[in-house]
Amino acid sequence: MTDHVGIDDIALATTGLVVDLGVLAQAHSVDPDKFYVGIGQSEMSIAGEDEDVVSLAAAAVQTIADRTDISGVRTLLLATETGVDQSKAAGVFVHGVLGLPPNVRVVELKQACYAGTAALMMARSLVCSDPSEKVLVVAVDVAKYDVGSGGEPTQGAGAVAMLITADPSILRIEPKTGVHTDDVMDFWRPNHRTTALVDGKFSIEAYMRSLEGAWTDYRAHDGFAYDDFDHFCYHQPFTKMANKAHAHLVALNGGDADKAEIAELMGPTQTYNRRIGNTYTASIYVGLLSLLETVPADLAGHRVGMFSYGSGSVGEFWSGTVVPGYQLHLDPELTATVLDGRKAIDHEAYLHLHDFALPIDGTSMKIDERAARNGFRLAGVDADRRQYERFEPTSAVLG
Ligand code: CAA
Repeated sequence: MTDHVGIDDIALATTGLVVDLGVLAQAHSVDPDKFYVGIGQSEMSIAGEDEDVVSLAAAAVQTIADRTDISGVRTLLLATETGVDQSKAAGVFVHGVLGLPPNVRVVELKQACYAGTAALMMARSLVCSDPSEKVLVVAVDVAKYDVGSGGEPTQGAGAVAMLITADPSILRIEPKTGVHTDDVMDFWRPNHRTTALVDGKFSIEAYMRSLEGAWTDYRAHDGFAYDDFDHFCYHQPFTKMANKAHAHLVALNGGDADKAEIAELMGPTQTYNRRIGNTYTASIYVGLLSLLETVPADLAGHRVGMFSYGSGSVGEFWSGTVVPGYQLHLDPELTATVLDGRKAIDHEAYLHLHDFALPIDGTSMKIDERAARNGFRLAGVDADRRQYERFEPTSAVLG
C-alpha cells in the first residue's frame, strides 16, 4: 500500500483544424468580444472527417509513450461522453491502433464532463493498493452543439492522457476529496442526437450548486482550508466559467471576489482552453496542463485545488501537490506546436464538418479527406465497423 500516487506524465492532443471565434461572430453578426471577452474563448478545435475520440485519444497516449516507459500498464480507463459505439469501449479501439499488449483491462466511463476525474480516482485506488500498477487515464471529447445555439461558440475537441503511478513525477494526488450528485437536466445528449441539449443559464447555476456541495463535503471530510491552496483549476466549458466559479468559492469562504485578482489567478489555467474550446471530460486536465506548462516560476510543492463538474450532475473537489522536477517531464514546446499546427478553416468548411456524419444504414465509407495531423485517423467505416490507421505525424506536430 502507498498513498504516494499521482500523475507521472500528462499529454494533450487536439484536432488538425481550428475556427477563430471571430469567424463565427461575423457569420452570426455578433460582436466578436462577446466570445473573446464575454465567454473568454478565442478559438475552437474542430474535428475533421477523419478525427474522433479514438484518433485523439491514441495521439495523446502516443505522446506519453514516446517519452515515458508505458510497459507494465495493466489498465486503460477512457472517459468520454462522445463514445463511438453503444457497446464497445472506445479505449479498445485505442488499444488496437496503438498495438498495446493483450494483458491490459480496458473500459469506458461516462458521466458528462466528470468521468475523467472518476477514472483518475479509480486509477489512484488501483495504484494505492498495488504500487507496481500503472494506469493510463484518457479524457477525450468532441463538444458539439446545434448551429445558431447559445452553446455553439463553446464547442471544441481534444484529449488529455495521463499515466498514473506510484512516486509520480508531476502531481501527487492527495487522499481527501469532496463529492456532490444532483439529478438535474442542465445539459444532456439523448442517444438519437449528435449535438448536446443544454439549458444554458440553468447549467451555470447547477455548476455553482455542485461546487458548493463538493466543497462543503470536502471540508466536512477534513479537506484543506481555502488558504492552504496556491492555485485552483476548474472544469472550463468556456474559460469565463472558471472566473465565475472561483468568485463563488471565494464568497463561500467569506472573502470578497476582486475580479482582477480572480482573472490573474485563473489566467494560467485558461491559456490552452481559450484556444481549444470545451473538451468536456478533458477540459479540467487541459487547464491543469496549461497551469503547469505556462507558469515560468517553479511550482514545486504548490497545492492545486481541482473542481471537476459533469452536468446531470456530479461534481468532485480534490487536490494535488506539484512534484519537484515536474518541468523535466513536460513539453510546452510540443503543446505549442500542436496548437499552432492546426489549420484554420472558414465558416463554410466548418458548417460542412458540423453536418458531416458517418453512414447509419450499414453502408461503407472511405474517408479520403485528411485533417488529422497527429499520427492517427479514422480511415472509414466498413459495414458498421470503424477502421483506424496510423500514419507518420506531420512535421508541424512532430516539432
Ligand atoms: N463584449 C464583452 N462581453 C460581452 C459582450 C460584448 N460585446 N456581449 C455579451 N458579453 C458578455 C455577457 O455580459 C456575459 O457575461 P457574464 O456571463 O459575465 O454576464 C457573457 O458575455 C455571455 O453572454 P450571454 O450570457 O448573453 O451569452 P449567451 O446567453 O449567448 O450564452 C452560455 C452563454 C449560457 C454560457 C452559452 O454559451 C451556453 O449555453 N453554453 C453551453 C453551456 C455551458 O457551457 N454551461 C456551463 C455550465 S455546464 C458545464 O460546465 C458542463 C459542460 O461542459 C457543458
